[in-house]
Amino acid sequence: MRREFAILGAGRLGRTLGRLLARRDYLPAGLSCRTLRSARQARRFIGGGVPTTSNLQAAARARIVLIATPDREIVPVARELARGRLPWTGRIVAHTSGALSSAALDPLKNRGASVASVHPLASVAAARADVELRGTPFAIEGAPGAVRVLRRLVADIGGHPVTIPREAKALYHLIACSLSNDLVAYLACGFAGAKGLGIGPRQAARLYLPLIRGTVDNVSNLGPVKALTGPISRGDVATLRLHSEALRTLPADVRRVHRILALRSTSLALQAGTITTEVAARMVRLLGTIP
Ligand SMILES: NC(=O)c1ccc[n+]([C@@H]2O[C@H](COP(=O)([O-])OP(=O)(O)OC[C@H]3O[C@@H](n4cnc5c(N)ncnc54)[C@H](OP(=O)(O)O)[C@@H]3O)[C@@H](O)[C@H]2O)c1
Repeated sequence: MRREFAILGAGRLGRTLGRLLARRDYLPAGLSCRTLRSARQARRFIGGGVPTTSNLQAAARARIVLIATPDREIVPVARELARGRLPWTGRIVAHTSGALSSAALDPLKNRGASVASVHPLASVAAARADVELRGTPFAIEGAPGAVRVLRRLVADIGGHPVTIPREAKALYHLIACSLSNDLVAYLACGFAGAKGLGIGPRQAARLYLPLIRGTVDNVSNLGPVKALTGPISRGDVATLRLHSEALRTLPADVRRVHRILALRSTSLALQAGTITTEVAARMVRLLGTIP
């Protein structure tokens, strides 16, 4: 029997999940958005479901209710739903925020719903017809009954369910943003810095991206300690001196970030046993002189 689901906030992620679920053993029932136009677009994309601007009416149609509104709307939507007359016992309600925990749904828990959060560790920039979330980790936490159903749901669309402690959701999300969004900012700094070579950021990306991809592969295959290469891992102090000269051409924030990360690299090299403590101390002193 196909399980009915509702999506409240059928935007980029909501539509994506809805389409993937509808392709499996799940039946789209209620779809709500701020605007009816958007809810109708969601129905076309998902291939079913009744579009509405009423979250309560959408939720009433299903036992599994996914809230994929922007984060700021999750608590207000939970309160709005809890004020309605719908019986909540036996319903599973989950939101898709990475930073908020299932506690955001306490108003519904107090009404008898089994609540959880389910967050795909993926960047869905647009709802695309050929979308796949196969192999994507989904962080899940919440009431045991809801977690059981959601783990199954995630596995059914090819995702990889992982458990994150409720109190660590903000930390989990911060790390995701740091490794993904901050990395983008760092790469942008590096590409901009390459103008001293007489090339623009696009050409710089072409020049350096194979190296960056290879590095990510190495970290994935070997872990960070063994993946570290370069002058710090070799204890090459003379090369570091050349770098500190070149660094003078770059902005102060890039110099600071470089210094902090190079200190981390020094610890990694020590852990890997590729440099001695004496060489590490010389490198730390040199890095401390970066303006
Ligand atoms: N996109 C991603 O890569 C991604 C990945 C992981 C997790 N998430 C999480 O998923 C959630 C949604 O993100 P998104 O990127 O999909 O956002 P989005 O594309 O902006 O979609 C949000 C949807 O929510 C609707 N909405 C706004 N306020 C509402 C309300 N009060 N009641 C009902 N519907 C409402 C909007 O309706 P209208 O279209 O009518 O404005 C829109 O359809 C967020 O919690 C986000 O943290 C997103």
